[in-house]
Amino acid sequence: MNTSETKIEWSEKYRPTSLSEIVGNNKPASDLRAWALQWQHGIPDQRAVILHGKPGVGKTTAAHALAHDFDWEVIELNASDQRTASAIRRVAGMASETASMSGGTRLIILDEADNIHGTADRGGAQALVKIIKETSQPILLTVNDMYGVSPSIKNLCMAIAFRSLQSRSIALLLRKICQNEGIVCDPEALLKIAENAHGDVRSAINDLQAVAQGKRELHRDDVVVSSRDSRDTIFDVLKKIFRGKDIKEALNATYGIDETPDDLIQWIDENLPAQYRGGDIADAMHALSRADIFLGRVHLRQNYRMWRYAGALMTSGVTVSKSREYPGARFMPPSKWRMLRSTRTSRQVRDAISEKIGVQCQTSQRYARLNLLPFVKMLSADRDYVVRLAAWTNLDTTEIAYIIGSKKDTKKVKTIHQEAQELLKDVALEEVDIFGGFESRAKVAQEKPEEKGKRENQVKPVEQGKPEKKIEKKPEKKSQTSLFDF
Ligand SMILES: Nc1ncnc2c1ncn2[C@@H]1O[C@H](COP(=O)(O)OP(=O)(O)OP(=O)(O)O)[C@@H](O)[C@H]1O
Ligand SMILES: [Mg+2]
Repeated sequence: MNTSETKIEWSEKYRPTSLSEIVGNNKPASDLRAWALQWQHGIPDQRAVILHGKPGVGKTTAAHALAHDFDWEVIELNASDQRTASAIRRVAGMASETASMSGGTRLIILDEADNIHGTADRGGAQALVKIIKETSQPILLTVNDMYGVSPSIKNLCMAIAFRSLQSRSIALLLRKICQNEGIVCDPEALLKIAENAHGDVRSAINDLQAVAQGKRELHRDDVVVSSRDSRDTIFDVLKKIFRGKDIKEALNATYGIDETPDDLIQWIDENLPAQYRGGDIADAMHALSRADIFLGRVHLRQNYRMWRYAGALMTSGVTVSKSREYPGARFMPPSKWRMLRSTRTSRQVRDAISEKIGVQCQTSQRYARLNLLPFVKMLSADRDYVVRLAAWTNLDTTEIAYIIGSKKDTKKVKTIHQEAQELLKDVALEEVDIFGGFESRAKVAQEKPEEKGKRENQVKPVEQGKPEKKIEKKPEKKSQTSLFDF
Protein backbone atom coordinates (compact mmCIF):
# COMPACT_ATOMS: atom_id res chain seq x y z
CA MET A 1 0.00 0.00 0.00
CA ASN A 2 1.48 3.36 -0.89
CA THR A 3 1.64 6.25 1.56
CA SER A 4 -0.98 8.40 -0.12
CA GLU A 5 -3.43 5.54 0.08
CA THR A 6 -2.71 4.94 3.72
CA LYS A 7 -3.62 8.47 4.69
CA ILE A 8 -6.90 8.93 2.87
CA GLU A 9 -9.57 9.21 5.49
CA TRP A 10 -11.86 6.23 5.30
CA SER A 11 -14.79 8.36 6.43
CA GLU A 12 -14.40 10.36 3.21
CA LYS A 13 -13.57 7.34 1.09
CA TYR A 14 -16.76 5.59 2.20
CA ARG A 15 -19.06 8.61 2.32
CA PRO A 16 -22.34 7.55 0.68
CA THR A 17 -23.13 9.44 -2.51
CA SER A 18 -26.80 8.50 -2.71
CA LEU A 19 -29.53 8.74 -0.05
CA SER A 20 -30.21 5.03 -0.53
CA GLU A 21 -26.70 4.21 0.76
CA ILE A 22 -27.14 6.09 4.02
CA VAL A 23 -27.23 3.69 6.94
CA GLY A 24 -30.11 4.04 9.43
CA ASN A 25 -32.10 7.27 9.39
CA ASN A 26 -34.51 5.98 6.75
CA LYS A 27 -37.33 8.27 7.82
CA PRO A 28 -35.29 11.51 7.52
CA ALA A 29 -34.00 10.34 4.15
CA SER A 30 -37.53 9.71 2.85
CA ASP A 31 -38.75 13.06 4.29
CA LEU A 32 -35.93 14.75 2.40
CA ARG A 33 -36.86 12.96 -0.80
CA ALA A 34 -40.51 13.97 -0.40
CA TRP A 35 -39.49 17.61 0.09
CA ALA A 36 -37.27 17.48 -3.00
CA LEU A 37 -40.12 15.98 -5.03
CA GLN A 38 -42.32 18.95 -4.09
CA TRP A 39 -39.75 21.20 -5.76
CA GLN A 40 -40.37 19.41 -9.03
CA HIS A 41 -43.91 20.79 -9.02
CA GLY A 42 -43.14 24.38 -8.14
CA ILE A 43 -42.16 26.18 -4.97
CA PRO A 44 -43.35 24.37 -1.81
CA ASP A 45 -44.62 26.11 1.34
CA GLN A 46 -41.45 25.31 3.18
CA ARG A 47 -38.62 26.43 0.99
CA ALA A 48 -35.90 25.40 3.41
CA VAL A 49 -35.15 22.34 5.53
CA ILE A 50 -32.96 22.04 8.60
CA LEU A 51 -31.25 18.71 9.16
CA HIS A 52 -30.38 18.48 12.83
CA GLY A 53 -28.54 15.84 14.81
CA LYS A 54 -25.34 14.97 16.59
CA PRO A 55 -21.98 15.01 14.76
CA GLY A 56 -21.20 12.20 12.35
CA VAL A 57 -24.71 10.88 11.78
CA GLY A 58 -24.95 11.74 8.08
CA LYS A 59 -26.41 15.25 7.76
CA THR A 60 -23.85 16.72 5.37
CA THR A 61 -23.71 13.41 3.55
CA ALA A 62 -27.50 13.43 3.11
CA ALA A 63 -27.46 17.01 1.81
CA HIS A 64 -25.01 16.18 -0.97
CA ALA A 65 -26.59 12.79 -1.63
CA LEU A 66 -29.95 14.49 -2.14
CA ALA A 67 -28.46 16.85 -4.73
CA HIS A 68 -26.80 13.88 -6.40
CA ASP A 69 -30.01 11.82 -6.51
CA PHE A 70 -32.06 14.67 -7.98
CA ASP A 71 -29.27 15.86 -10.22
CA TRP A 72 -29.25 19.28 -8.59
CA GLU A 73 -26.34 21.67 -8.68
CA VAL A 74 -24.94 22.55 -5.24
CA ILE A 75 -24.07 26.00 -3.95
CA GLU A 76 -22.37 25.76 -0.59
CA LEU A 77 -21.79 28.47 1.97
CA ASN A 78 -19.29 26.93 4.27
CA ALA A 79 -16.93 28.77 6.55
CA SER A 80 -18.64 30.54 9.39
CA ASP A 81 -16.84 33.76 8.64
CA GLN A 82 -18.62 33.90 5.32
CA ARG A 83 -21.89 34.09 7.14
CA THR A 84 -22.20 37.82 7.32
CA ALA A 85 -25.32 39.42 5.91
CA SER A 86 -23.54 40.63 2.80
CA ALA A 87 -21.93 37.25 2.08
CA ILE A 88 -25.20 35.41 2.57
CA ARG A 89 -26.96 37.87 0.31
CA ARG A 90 -24.21 37.68 -2.29
CA VAL A 91 -23.89 33.92 -2.53
CA ALA A 92 -27.18 32.47 -1.42
CA GLY A 93 -29.23 35.46 -2.50
CA MET A 94 -28.05 35.37 -6.07
CA ALA A 95 -28.29 31.60 -6.26
CA SER A 96 -31.79 31.66 -4.84
CA GLU A 97 -33.06 34.14 -7.38
CA THR A 98 -31.72 32.52 -10.50
CA ALA A 99 -31.86 29.00 -11.80
CA SER A 100 -28.58 27.28 -12.63
CA MET A 101 -26.82 27.77 -15.96
CA SER A 102 -28.42 24.63 -17.31
CA GLY A 103 -31.82 25.84 -16.13
CA GLY A 104 -31.92 23.12 -13.48
CA THR A 105 -32.44 23.38 -9.74
CA ARG A 106 -29.64 24.35 -7.40
CA LEU A 107 -29.55 23.29 -3.78
CA ILE A 108 -28.16 25.98 -1.49
CA ILE A 109 -26.43 24.27 1.42
CA LEU A 110 -25.55 26.13 4.59
CA ASP A 111 -23.60 23.45 6.40
CA GLU A 112 -23.05 23.74 10.15
CA ALA A 113 -25.40 26.68 10.36
CA ASP A 114 -25.59 26.65 14.17
CA ASN A 115 -23.67 29.86 14.46
CA ILE A 116 -25.71 31.95 12.07
CA HIS A 117 -27.62 32.87 15.17
CA GLY A 118 -24.32 33.99 16.71
CA THR A 119 -23.58 36.25 13.80
CA ALA A 120 -27.01 37.80 13.98
CA ASP A 121 -25.39 41.04 15.06
CA ARG A 122 -23.80 41.14 11.66
CA GLY A 123 -27.20 40.65 10.12
CA GLY A 124 -26.62 37.02 9.08
CA ALA A 125 -29.85 35.68 10.52
CA GLN A 126 -32.06 38.45 9.13
CA ALA A 127 -30.48 38.15 5.68
CA LEU A 128 -31.15 34.45 5.72
CA VAL A 129 -34.77 34.88 6.79
CA LYS A 130 -35.32 37.20 3.85
CA ILE A 131 -33.63 34.81 1.43
CA ILE A 132 -35.64 31.82 2.65
CA LYS A 133 -38.87 33.78 2.26
CA GLU A 134 -38.03 34.80 -1.29
CA THR A 135 -35.95 31.96 -2.69
CA SER A 136 -36.86 30.22 -5.89
CA GLN A 137 -34.32 27.48 -5.15
CA PRO A 138 -34.28 24.87 -2.33
CA ILE A 139 -32.24 25.74 0.76
CA LEU A 140 -30.84 23.18 3.20
CA LEU A 141 -29.28 23.94 6.58
CA THR A 142 -27.48 21.48 8.81
CA VAL A 143 -27.03 22.02 12.55
CA ASN A 144 -26.03 19.95 15.54
CA ASP A 145 -28.56 21.53 17.80
CA MET A 146 -31.80 23.34 17.06
CA TYR A 147 -31.08 25.56 20.07
CA GLY A 148 -28.44 27.26 17.97
CA VAL A 149 -30.95 28.33 15.34
CA SER A 150 -32.76 31.61 15.73
CA PRO A 151 -36.56 31.24 16.07
CA SER A 152 -37.17 33.41 13.01
CA ILE A 153 -35.25 30.90 10.86
CA LYS A 154 -36.69 27.87 12.62
CA ASN A 155 -40.26 28.98 11.93
CA LEU A 156 -39.65 29.07 8.20
CA CYS A 157 -38.02 25.67 7.84
CA MET A 158 -39.04 22.03 7.85
CA ALA A 159 -37.03 20.40 10.64
CA ILE A 160 -35.74 16.88 9.94
CA ALA A 161 -34.11 15.04 12.82
CA PHE A 162 -31.15 12.75 12.21
CA ARG A 163 -30.75 10.20 14.99
CA SER A 164 -27.55 8.74 16.34
CA LEU A 165 -27.05 5.28 14.88
CA GLN A 166 -27.38 2.01 16.73
CA SER A 167 -24.14 0.19 17.37
CA ARG A 168 -25.31 -2.82 15.36
CA SER A 169 -25.92 -0.72 12.26
CA ILE A 170 -22.54 0.95 12.63
CA ALA A 171 -20.84 -2.44 13.10
CA LEU A 172 -22.37 -3.67 9.83
CA LEU A 173 -21.04 -0.65 8.01
CA LEU A 174 -17.60 -1.20 9.55
CA ARG A 175 -17.71 -4.80 8.36
CA LYS A 176 -18.31 -3.68 4.79
CA ILE A 177 -15.38 -1.29 5.01
CA CYS A 178 -13.13 -4.06 6.33
CA GLN A 179 -14.20 -6.37 3.55
CA ASN A 180 -13.40 -3.69 1.03
CA GLU A 181 -10.00 -3.06 2.61
CA GLY A 182 -9.24 -6.78 2.68
CA ILE A 183 -9.10 -7.00 6.46
CA VAL A 184 -10.46 -10.04 8.29
CA CYS A 185 -12.29 -8.81 11.36
CA ASP A 186 -13.59 -10.30 14.55
CA PRO A 187 -17.27 -9.16 14.70
CA GLU A 188 -16.83 -8.50 18.41
CA ALA A 189 -14.01 -6.08 17.65
CA LEU A 190 -16.26 -4.16 15.27
CA LEU A 191 -19.09 -4.06 17.76
CA LYS A 192 -16.72 -2.72 20.38
CA ILE A 193 -15.60 0.09 18.08
CA ALA A 194 -19.22 0.82 17.16
CA GLU A 195 -20.26 0.98 20.82
CA ASN A 196 -17.41 3.32 21.63
CA ALA A 197 -18.65 5.75 19.00
CA HIS A 198 -22.02 6.31 20.72
CA GLY A 199 -23.93 6.65 17.46
CA ASP A 200 -21.32 8.78 15.66
CA VAL A 201 -20.48 7.00 12.40
CA ARG A 202 -17.57 9.29 11.56
CA SER A 203 -15.84 8.54 14.87
CA ALA A 204 -16.46 4.83 14.43
CA ILE A 205 -14.89 4.83 10.97
CA ASN A 206 -11.97 6.94 12.20
CA ASP A 207 -11.41 4.59 15.14
CA LEU A 208 -11.56 1.60 12.83
CA GLN A 209 -9.01 3.16 10.52
CA ALA A 210 -6.74 3.93 13.47
CA VAL A 211 -6.64 0.31 14.65
CA ALA A 212 -7.11 -1.63 11.44
CA GLN A 213 -5.21 0.18 8.73
CA GLY A 214 -2.23 -1.76 7.48
CA LYS A 215 -3.41 -4.97 9.17
CA ARG A 216 -4.71 -8.10 7.54
CA GLU A 217 -6.63 -9.17 10.61
CA LEU A 218 -8.33 -7.28 13.39
CA HIS A 219 -8.82 -9.02 16.71
CA ARG A 220 -10.83 -8.02 19.71
CA ASP A 221 -7.65 -7.42 21.70
CA ASP A 222 -6.49 -4.80 19.21
CA VAL A 223 -9.54 -2.75 20.07
CA VAL A 224 -9.05 -2.70 23.83
CA VAL A 225 -6.17 -0.33 23.24
CA SER A 226 -8.20 1.90 21.00
CA SER A 227 -11.13 2.00 23.35
CA ARG A 228 -8.83 3.65 25.85
CA ASP A 229 -7.75 6.08 23.17
CA SER A 230 -11.16 6.66 21.75
CA ARG A 231 -12.57 10.04 22.50
CA ASP A 232 -14.69 10.63 25.53
CA THR A 233 -16.93 13.63 25.37
CA ILE A 234 -16.55 16.25 28.05
CA PHE A 235 -19.74 14.85 29.60
CA ASP A 236 -18.24 11.35 29.84
CA VAL A 237 -15.23 12.87 31.55
CA LEU A 238 -17.39 14.78 34.02
CA LYS A 239 -19.31 11.59 34.76
CA LYS A 240 -16.08 9.75 35.52
CA ILE A 241 -14.87 12.58 37.74
CA PHE A 242 -18.06 13.23 39.72
CA ARG A 243 -19.71 9.81 39.73
CA GLY A 244 -16.82 7.41 39.31
CA LYS A 245 -14.62 5.90 41.97
CA ASP A 246 -11.54 5.10 39.95
CA ILE A 247 -9.02 7.95 40.15
CA LYS A 248 -6.93 6.62 37.25
CA GLU A 249 -9.96 6.37 35.03
CA ALA A 250 -10.94 9.95 35.86
CA LEU A 251 -7.51 11.23 34.88
CA ASN A 252 -7.10 9.02 31.81
CA ALA A 253 -10.47 10.11 30.45
CA THR A 254 -9.15 13.64 30.05
CA TYR A 255 -6.45 12.61 27.57
CA GLY A 256 -8.83 12.06 24.68
CA ILE A 257 -10.89 15.25 24.88
CA ASP A 258 -10.41 18.50 23.03
CA GLU A 259 -10.58 20.69 26.13
CA THR A 260 -7.40 22.33 27.38
CA PRO A 261 -6.71 22.01 31.14
CA ASP A 262 -7.81 25.65 31.51
CA ASP A 263 -11.16 24.86 29.89
CA LEU A 264 -11.60 21.61 31.79
CA ILE A 265 -11.19 23.25 35.17
CA GLN A 266 -13.96 25.69 34.20
CA TRP A 267 -16.29 22.80 33.47
CA ILE A 268 -15.50 21.06 36.77
CA ASP A 269 -15.76 24.28 38.75
CA GLU A 270 -19.11 25.19 37.20
CA ASN A 271 -20.64 21.78 37.91
CA LEU A 272 -19.18 20.97 41.31
CA PRO A 273 -21.79 22.81 43.46
CA ALA A 274 -24.65 20.92 41.79
CA GLN A 275 -22.96 17.52 41.94
CA TYR A 276 -21.73 17.23 45.55
CA ARG A 277 -23.07 18.41 48.92
CA GLY A 278 -21.64 19.96 52.12
CA GLY A 279 -18.11 19.13 53.15
CA ASP A 280 -17.47 17.18 49.93
CA ILE A 281 -17.84 20.42 47.98
CA ALA A 282 -15.30 22.09 50.26
CA ASP A 283 -12.81 19.23 49.82
CA ALA A 284 -13.21 19.20 46.06
CA MET A 285 -12.87 22.99 45.95
CA HIS A 286 -9.61 22.66 47.82
CA ALA A 287 -8.30 20.24 45.16
CA LEU A 288 -9.51 22.58 42.41
CA SER A 289 -7.86 25.62 43.93
CA ARG A 290 -4.55 23.76 44.11
CA ALA A 291 -4.98 22.66 40.50
CA ASP A 292 -5.54 26.30 39.64
CA ILE A 293 -2.25 27.26 41.28
CA PHE A 294 -0.42 24.75 39.10
CA LEU A 295 -2.18 26.03 36.00
CA GLY A 296 -1.01 29.52 36.95
CA ARG A 297 2.56 28.22 37.14
CA VAL A 298 2.25 26.71 33.68
CA HIS A 299 1.49 30.16 32.32
CA LEU A 300 3.94 32.03 34.51
CA ARG A 301 6.95 29.81 34.00
CA GLN A 302 6.01 28.14 30.75
CA ASN A 303 6.56 24.92 32.61
CA TYR A 304 4.21 22.51 30.92
CA ARG A 305 5.05 19.66 33.28
CA MET A 306 2.85 21.41 35.80
CA TRP A 307 -0.13 20.41 33.70
CA ARG A 308 0.25 16.89 35.00
CA TYR A 309 -0.20 17.94 38.61
CA ALA A 310 -3.04 20.29 37.73
CA GLY A 311 -4.72 17.49 35.76
CA ALA A 312 -4.44 14.97 38.58
CA LEU A 313 -5.78 17.42 41.16
CA MET A 314 -8.74 18.60 39.15
CA THR A 315 -9.82 15.08 38.17
CA SER A 316 -8.70 12.47 40.69
CA GLY A 317 -8.64 15.10 43.44
CA VAL A 318 -12.32 15.83 42.88
CA THR A 319 -13.20 12.14 42.49
CA VAL A 320 -11.77 11.20 45.89
CA SER A 321 -13.39 14.18 47.62
CA LYS A 322 -16.81 12.59 47.72
CA SER A 323 -17.73 10.64 50.85
CA ARG A 324 -20.79 9.02 49.31
CA GLU A 325 -22.53 8.51 45.98
CA TYR A 326 -24.72 11.31 44.61
CA PRO A 327 -27.65 10.89 42.23
CA GLY A 328 -26.06 13.39 39.86
CA ALA A 329 -27.51 16.54 38.35
CA ARG A 330 -27.41 17.51 34.68
CA PHE A 331 -24.03 18.86 33.57
CA MET A 332 -23.96 22.45 32.41
CA PRO A 333 -21.32 24.22 30.32
CA PRO A 334 -19.34 26.92 32.13
CA SER A 335 -21.22 30.20 32.08
CA LYS A 336 -18.16 31.99 30.79
CA TRP A 337 -18.55 29.89 27.67
CA ARG A 338 -22.15 30.78 27.15
CA MET A 339 -20.87 34.26 26.49
CA LEU A 340 -18.04 33.01 24.34
CA ARG A 341 -20.05 30.80 22.01
CA SER A 342 -18.17 32.19 19.07
CA THR A 343 -15.21 29.93 19.97
CA ARG A 344 -14.32 28.12 16.78
CA THR A 345 -15.26 24.49 16.46
CA SER A 346 -12.76 22.13 14.95
CA ARG A 347 -14.79 22.02 11.75
CA GLN A 348 -14.60 25.77 11.41
CA VAL A 349 -10.86 25.60 11.95
CA ARG A 350 -10.58 22.84 9.36
CA ASP A 351 -12.52 24.94 6.86
CA ALA A 352 -10.45 28.04 7.54
CA ILE A 353 -7.21 26.11 6.95
CA SER A 354 -8.62 24.56 3.78
CA GLU A 355 -9.56 28.00 2.56
CA LYS A 356 -6.01 29.29 3.16
CA ILE A 357 -4.47 26.30 1.42
CA GLY A 358 -7.02 26.69 -1.36
CA VAL A 359 -6.04 30.32 -1.89
CA GLN A 360 -2.35 29.40 -2.16
CA CYS A 361 -3.03 26.46 -4.47
CA GLN A 362 -5.64 28.35 -6.44
CA THR A 363 -8.32 25.80 -5.79
CA SER A 364 -11.63 25.77 -3.94
CA GLN A 365 -11.91 25.36 -0.19
CA ARG A 366 -13.85 22.14 -0.68
CA TYR A 367 -11.22 20.64 -2.99
CA ALA A 368 -8.47 21.65 -0.58
CA ARG A 369 -10.38 20.16 2.35
CA LEU A 370 -11.09 16.84 0.69
CA ASN A 371 -7.96 16.31 -1.38
CA LEU A 372 -5.11 18.40 -0.02
CA LEU A 373 -5.67 18.65 3.72
CA PRO A 374 -5.16 14.91 4.37
CA PHE A 375 -1.75 15.12 2.67
CA VAL A 376 -0.85 18.31 4.46
CA LYS A 377 -1.64 16.55 7.73
CA MET A 378 0.50 13.61 6.71
CA LEU A 379 3.44 15.86 5.80
CA SER A 380 3.01 17.67 9.08
CA ALA A 381 4.81 14.87 10.89
CA ASP A 382 7.84 16.90 9.82
CA ARG A 383 8.01 19.88 12.16
CA ASP A 384 9.97 22.09 9.76
CA TYR A 385 7.29 21.55 7.18
CA VAL A 386 4.66 22.80 9.63
CA VAL A 387 6.69 25.94 10.29
CA ARG A 388 6.94 26.69 6.57
CA LEU A 389 3.28 25.87 6.04
CA ALA A 390 2.27 28.16 8.92
CA ALA A 391 4.33 30.98 7.41
CA TRP A 392 3.21 30.32 3.88
CA THR A 393 -0.49 30.21 4.65
CA ASN A 394 -0.38 32.47 7.71
CA LEU A 395 -1.88 29.97 10.16
CA ASP A 396 -2.82 31.08 13.65
CA THR A 397 -2.15 28.97 16.75
CA THR A 398 -5.54 27.25 16.67
CA GLU A 399 -4.98 26.24 13.08
CA ILE A 400 -1.44 25.00 13.75
CA ALA A 401 -2.80 22.96 16.65
CA TYR A 402 -5.40 21.40 14.36
CA ILE A 403 -2.79 20.50 11.73
CA ILE A 404 -0.46 18.77 14.18
CA GLY A 405 -3.30 17.27 16.21
CA SER A 406 -2.30 19.07 19.37
CA LYS A 407 -4.04 21.26 21.91
CA LYS A 408 -4.04 24.95 21.22
CA ASP A 409 -2.00 26.01 24.23
CA THR A 410 0.93 23.66 23.91
CA LYS A 411 4.43 24.98 23.89
CA LYS A 412 5.04 23.23 20.59
CA VAL A 413 2.21 25.09 18.89
CA LYS A 414 3.43 28.38 20.26
CA THR A 415 7.03 27.84 19.15
CA ILE A 416 5.94 26.76 15.67
CA HIS A 417 3.86 29.91 15.43
CA GLN A 418 6.75 32.05 16.63
CA GLU A 419 9.18 30.45 14.17
CA ALA A 420 6.71 30.98 11.34
CA GLN A 421 6.45 34.64 12.30
CA GLU A 422 10.25 34.84 12.40
CA LEU A 423 10.41 33.35 8.93
CA LEU A 424 7.98 35.90 7.62
CA LYS A 425 9.96 38.66 9.28
CA ASP A 426 13.30 37.43 7.91
CA VAL A 427 11.97 37.01 4.40
CA ALA A 428 10.28 40.40 4.49
CA LEU A 429 13.52 41.99 5.65
CA GLU A 430 15.47 40.28 2.89
CA GLU A 431 13.02 41.68 0.40
CA VAL A 432 13.39 45.14 1.89
CA ASP A 433 17.18 44.85 1.67
CA ILE A 434 17.05 43.74 -1.93
CA PHE A 435 15.07 46.83 -2.79
CA GLY A 436 17.40 49.17 -0.94
CA GLY A 437 16.26 49.18 2.70
CA PHE A 438 19.73 48.33 3.96
CA GLU A 439 19.30 49.69 7.44
CA SER A 440 16.09 47.91 8.20
CA ARG A 441 17.70 45.18 10.26
CA ALA A 442 19.44 47.64 12.49
CA LYS A 443 16.21 49.53 13.00
CA VAL A 444 14.34 46.39 13.87
CA ALA A 445 16.95 45.48 16.46
CA GLN A 446 16.33 48.79 18.17
CA GLU A 447 12.58 49.05 17.96
CA LYS A 448 10.26 48.71 20.92
CA PRO A 449 8.57 45.34 21.40
CA GLU A 450 5.05 46.72 20.80
CA GLU A 451 6.12 48.26 17.50
CA LYS A 452 7.76 45.00 16.56
CA GLY A 453 4.50 43.15 17.21
CA LYS A 454 2.57 45.62 15.06
CA ARG A 455 4.98 45.31 12.18
CA GLU A 456 5.06 41.53 12.34
CA ASN A 457 1.33 41.41 11.99
CA GLN A 458 1.52 43.45 8.83
CA VAL A 459 4.01 41.19 7.12
CA LYS A 460 2.50 39.39 4.17
CA PRO A 461 2.73 35.60 3.64
CA VAL A 462 5.62 34.50 1.49
CA GLU A 463 6.08 32.16 -1.39
CA GLN A 464 6.55 28.48 -0.69
CA GLY A 465 10.09 27.21 -0.72
CA LYS A 466 11.79 30.51 0.04
CA PRO A 467 12.05 30.12 3.80
CA GLU A 468 13.77 26.73 3.71
CA LYS A 469 17.29 27.96 4.12
CA LYS A 470 16.26 30.02 7.16
CA ILE A 471 15.16 26.94 9.04
CA GLU A 472 18.47 25.28 8.52
CA LYS A 473 20.09 28.20 10.30
CA LYS A 474 18.88 26.95 13.66
CA PRO A 475 20.92 23.81 14.26
CA GLU A 476 20.93 24.26 18.02
CA LYS A 477 17.23 23.33 18.14
CA LYS A 478 16.76 19.63 18.73
CA SER A 479 14.06 18.24 16.47
CA GLN A 480 11.07 16.81 18.28
CA THR A 481 10.31 13.17 18.13
CA SER A 482 6.68 13.23 19.15
CA LEU A 483 3.78 15.63 19.40
CA PHE A 484 4.05 15.64 23.17
CA ASP A 485 7.78 16.02 23.36
CA PHE A 486 7.93 19.47 24.92
N1 LIG B 1 -25.83 7.41 8.19
C1 LIG B 1 -24.63 7.19 7.66
N2 LIG B 1 -24.42 6.17 6.78
C2 LIG B 1 -23.20 5.94 6.27
N3 LIG B 1 -22.12 6.67 6.54
C3 LIG B 1 -22.26 7.68 7.40
C4 LIG B 1 -23.51 8.00 7.98
N4 LIG B 1 -23.35 9.06 8.79
C5 LIG B 1 -22.08 9.40 8.71
N5 LIG B 1 -21.41 8.58 7.88
C6 LIG B 1 -19.96 8.61 7.63
O1 LIG B 1 -19.42 9.59 8.48
C7 LIG B 1 -18.84 10.65 7.74
C8 LIG B 1 -19.31 11.96 8.32
O2 LIG B 1 -20.69 12.12 8.10
P1 LIG B 1 -21.35 13.54 7.87
O3 LIG B 1 -20.32 14.51 7.40
O4 LIG B 1 -22.55 13.39 7.02
O5 LIG B 1 -21.77 13.87 9.35
P2 LIG B 1 -22.61 15.09 9.89
O6 LIG B 1 -23.88 14.56 10.45
O7 LIG B 1 -22.72 16.13 8.84
O8 LIG B 1 -21.69 15.55 11.09
P3 LIG B 1 -21.32 17.01 11.60
O9 LIG B 1 -22.45 17.46 12.46
O10 LIG B 1 -20.07 16.77 12.38
O11 LIG B 1 -21.11 17.88 10.40
C9 LIG B 1 -19.27 10.45 6.30
O12 LIG B 1 -18.22 10.78 5.43
C10 LIG B 1 -19.57 8.99 6.23
O13 LIG B 1 -18.42 8.27 5.89
MG1 LIG C 1 -21.75 17.97 8.63
